[in-house]
Amino acid sequence: MTNWRAERLGQLPPYLFVEIDRKKKEAIAAGKDVINLGIGDPDSPTPEFIVERMSREIHDPANHSYPNGAGHPDFLDACVGFFDRRFGVTPDRTSEVTAVIGSKEAIGHLPLAVVNPGETVLVPDPGYPVYTSATIFAGAIPHLMPLRAGNGWLPDLDAIPAEVAAKARLMFLNYPNNPTGAVADVAFFEKAVAFARKHNILIAHDAAYSEVFFEVRPPSILQVDGAADVAVEFHSLSKSFNMTGWRIGFAVGNASVIAALKSVKDNVDSGQFNAIQRTAADALNHFDHVSVRAMIDLYRERRDIVTAALTECAVTVEKPGASFYVWAKCPIGYTSMDFISMVLDEVGVVLIPGNGFGNCGEGYFRIALTVDADRMREAMARIKTVSW
Ligand SMILES: Cc1ncc(COP(=O)(O)O)c(C=O)c1O
Repeated sequence: MTNWRAERLGQLPPYLFVEIDRKKKEAIAAGKDVINLGIGDPDSPTPEFIVERMSREIHDPANHSYPNGAGHPDFLDACVGFFDRRFGVTPDRTSEVTAVIGSKEAIGHLPLAVVNPGETVLVPDPGYPVYTSATIFAGAIPHLMPLRAGNGWLPDLDAIPAEVAAKARLMFLNYPNNPTGAVADVAFFEKAVAFARKHNILIAHDAAYSEVFFEVRPPSILQVDGAADVAVEFHSLSKSFNMTGWRIGFAVGNASVIAALKSVKDNVDSGQFNAIQRTAADALNHFDHVSVRAMIDLYRERRDIVTAALTECAVTVEKPGASFYVWAKCPIGYTSMDFISMVLDEVGVVLIPGNGFGNCGEGYFRIALTVDADRMREAMARIKTVSW
């Protein structure tokens, strides 16, 4: 029988979560009460004011036809308004913003829009796996930039070899960061923009977690003067408003990049349902809504439970300033896989191994703050009983 799978799929890095999934299912089948701290998907529903708006939009026949390629005018206006009020930057609504079907879609399509086969793409390690797969799908070559604790989980741009910088066409960045929870400040973005200018590299900054912050509001790379010459940024309503299933976000920044991304999208999708776009416009217009702040308060409480408990177990961990992930170091002598397997087997708590995000994540594990505080306390109490 012919195997129809294209060769490019064979180039994707191995998917490490298969084994964890198998173990998890085995434990559940054996009747164990498994606590899953692996999933990066909010546990609370979408705020009521958004759901209520959608229930009205869905009845409007004007929303039922094919969407406008670049995005519904209401949605694009809301994106510009959000950017202006949140970051003090006013992108041009027709040339510098486009609606996307979740930031994953935009990240997946961007290399097809801006990178030629054989070119180099700078990808953070550890990092969201889609940067690498999207690069491979475009026939380009990922060059991994190590993120290390000592550098605040930022890439050391000075350490990128000159010959790699010369070949690179695109660099992915992601702050607030998945999986480390690190936040970049404007000074780092200034450095990144200067680097991009010097080497003629486009920066794609993934800001999917920009609104899930605990103390300080994370900046946009577009706050740097002239950043739109060399950068685009991806925003998503998924985590900001507990809307992961709605598939809506936007890309903003360099006009020629937005135009190129739209060209790819015009050929592969027809945009997001207008009812969702108009509802998402309402959400963005209320980005500081009391229900959004309440959601962040829940994550903060869980973050504090997890970091306090891990510290008591002598695990090296820092409180993340943003995102809903806690990134912690495995005890000495354990690989990521050894540690998470032991915890799953002994006490039925699912953690994600750091090396699932790249080799530089080896020796770490990630906890998603997506179960309620009581369940989180229970998970931590169980982990405390494991001896290592
Ligand atoms: C770093 C990062 N970027 C982008 C996404 C995709 O988000 P969405 O496509 O829901 O906007 C995720 C989802 O987990 C993520 O962790």
